[in-house]
Amino acid sequence: MNDKQRVAEYAANQIADGMLVGLGTGSTANYFIEALARRMQEENLKISTVSSSVVSAIKADSHGLPLVGIDQVERLDVYVDGADEVDSELNLLKGKGSDLVREKLLAHNSHAFWVLIDQSKRVERLASKSPVPVEVMPFAWRLVLSSIEAIGGRGGLRLNSAGDGIAVTAHGSLVLDISFDTATDISLLNKTLSSIPGVVEHGIFHRLATEVFCGVEGEIQRQTPDK
Ligand code: 5RP
Repeated sequence: MNDKQRVAEYAANQIADGMLVGLGTGSTANYFIEALARRMQEENLKISTVSSSVVSAIKADSHGLPLVGIDQVERLDVYVDGADEVDSELNLLKGKGSDLVREKLLAHNSHAFWVLIDQSKRVERLASKSPVPVEVMPFAWRLVLSSIEAIGGRGGLRLNSAGDGIAVTAHGSLVLDISFDTATDISLLNKTLSSIPGVVEHGIFHRLATEVFCGVEGEIQRQTPDK
């Protein structure tokens, strides 16, 4: 069992009977979905789930987890997902998988947001290793890119996985992958990107995580943000 699996098992064991649980997207979220489904069956838990993507919905359904539509819920008990980067203040970079709109929506509207990582996701400065994904209305991408270039960002449209065309998200948006100078203030960048017209959502999850569970060589380290 690797650290991602171990942390997913651990988080699944923290879910209580009766909870409405948001399911993230990615390999760690997949391990969580499997572990949660197993626990539900073994312990006859009465839980409901909301998925952050079509991929997670199919995975959850195939493992027998009861799914509720995202448009049917007002608030979740907990949202559980992985991340691409986590800084020391528990800010996250997400969205490598192009599902960040639903992911941020669920994270924002949950009583708790648990982030499951292994040590490789820890960074000193957010967006120092990976670009910031910025999801944009298709017709707005050039205008948004020039607004972003004006604040020092550099990048372009994300390509599809085959590399022979442009990536289109589940909502029909395009994604700009943008690199910023490592000295960029993440709190300011979060606000600035959100304020650019044409931006649908971006991958900085600023002060949304309520707890990070990190798998470290077989152990689980839990961390909550400083108040
Ligand atoms: C998808 C995400 C994922 O949570 C992130 O990419 C981590 O993935 P993995 O668990 O496979 O390492 O943000 O949009």
